[in-house]
Amino acid sequence: MKKVFIVANWKSNKITKEARKWIEDLSNSNFNFMDFKEIIICPSFSLLSSVKLGIQEIIGQKLKIKVGAQDISQFDEGAYTGGVNGRQIKELADYVIVGHSERRNNFGEDGKIVNEKISKALKYNLIPILCVSDMKQIHDSRLVIHNSNFIVAYEPTFAIGTGTPDTPENADKMAKNIKEILGEIPVLYGGSVSKFNIKSFTQMSYIDGALVGRASLDVKEFATIIQNA
Ligand code: 13P
Repeated sequence: MKKVFIVANWKSNKITKEARKWIEDLSNSNFNFMDFKEIIICPSFSLLSSVKLGIQEIIGQKLKIKVGAQDISQFDEGAYTGGVNGRQIKELADYVIVGHSERRNNFGEDGKIVNEKISKALKYNLIPILCVSDMKQIHDSRLVIHNSNFIVAYEPTFAIGTGTPDTPENADKMAKNIKEILGEIPVLYGGSVSKFNIKSFTQMSYIDGALVGRASLDVKEFATIIQNA
């Protein structure tokens, strides 16, 4: 059976007490669905520490959940006001999302910056979850991720936050193309994933899981997504 990754991208949502309640509620859900599934929660920087602690205290050994950041500075430690660097993130997380289309489009991150961020993630032993919306973005980052430990998420922009996902067939074709170029790495699908459509994606041959935005904010929906994946 293939390993399935279910990644929650909370984006710019939640404050500490809401994150804590989400973890408590997840802890109270049914864990019989966990074999072969890897769960990764990606909250805002301001919540990383409390989410990591909450998972340790509330969930403990019941469920293996990893933590990821949503972004990383392209610089090391130093005079970079507002930057959160790889060394700081590594204290709290194992994964980091890089190149999300919301960063590319709203924060002006181009291929060069995305590649610098991937390099910093790898330097600090963080596993990048590289988001791409087309094959050009794969080609742009191909050399930086060559031979490293990383995950790719195919997220077409038309599907993000719209309620209109890509078809499982097309997403699977993209995942196949990505693996042909990058080798046998996990490829996730993201964009309007819900408890109703998750299985249609994870049952495809080349898709190894999902990157879930809006539907991950509601813990009941997210637990059902994990269950149905
Ligand atoms: P939605 O699931 O809200 O469409 O967002 C997808 C996404 O951008 C995950 O990174």
